[in-house]
Amino acid sequence: MATTAILIIGAHGQLGSVLTGELQKIYGKQNIIATDIVPKTNVEGIFEHIDATDGKALERIVTKYAITEIYHLAAILSAKGEQYPLRTWEVNMNMTLHVFDVARKHKVDKVFFPSSIAVFGDHAPKENTPQWAPLNPTTVYGMSKAAGEHWAQYYFNTYGLDVRSLRYPGVVGYQPVSGGGTTDYAVEIYQSAVRQQPYTCFLKPDTKLPMIYMDDAIRATIELMQAPKENIKTRTSYNLGSMSFCPSEVAAAIQRTYPNFSMEYAPDFRQKISEKWPHSIDDGQARKDWGWKPKHDLESMTKLILAKLNKNMS
Ligand code: SER
Repeated sequence: MATTAILIIGAHGQLGSVLTGELQKIYGKQNIIATDIVPKTNVEGIFEHIDATDGKALERIVTKYAITEIYHLAAILSAKGEQYPLRTWEVNMNMTLHVFDVARKHKVDKVFFPSSIAVFGDHAPKENTPQWAPLNPTTVYGMSKAAGEHWAQYYFNTYGLDVRSLRYPGVVGYQPVSGGGTTDYAVEIYQSAVRQQPYTCFLKPDTKLPMIYMDDAIRATIELMQAPKENIKTRTSYNLGSMSFCPSEVAAAIQRTYPNFSMEYAPDFRQKISEKWPHSIDDGQARKDWGWKPKHDLESMTKLILAKLNKNMS
């Protein structure tokens, strides 16, 4: 049987750090090559320091390890991207196109490309946003993801490259965020709660957004990548749904364990970004094609995150 050699780009990021460990458990540490632009690493196993905007460096790694699958997770996120619009476009698009093209050239079996709810904007229904709702991104991050989705489809149609993609909602876990996302409040709030500190939220109390617990997000990614090729009917990106909530609802869920937890609101420029995004997602296509089913809701996620953060603190 041919060996699987998996390259992870962005292994220090919010998703990358968890996905690296999970893939190591499934495929063995010796078969996972974790990479990131940040050199300092806690990764157990193989790590290479690369800047994925450097196509030649990327190609060297793909050749060196005879890579068969790539998970390309590196990107500048929505909020940070608005501070450096042109740089964000350049970085996000350069990396994505290098990854797709190196994968084509070296006949990599499968590529994972993460997209986001940020591809939606005006004219997409806010409730149960359909798989084929129009894409009208308002951030450079969203524009780069929408363009990336179409390039993914192009590489599949033109070269037969097996690129698979999910439109992640906000990913929430006990693991810290590296920053720059509009949904980051939902991670930071739990960290304040266990430290017995009040939290100042940068979104308004009733800003409802689609979210997913980290374990579900990781499971979705691995299930999509392990699904038989013929089941993957959507070659842009799959809507991925799980739960939806607003800041006041997370605060209330936390207060059931920490009655003294308090939250203040100081909405900033991220409010405007969030108002263009869906409230909830129709992921019927993912459920039908490869059997997607989320396991967690706000209550179960809150219990798990608080318990884990508490344990880590003591
Ligand atoms: N979580 C991302 C962000 O907030 C959206 O994909 O930018």
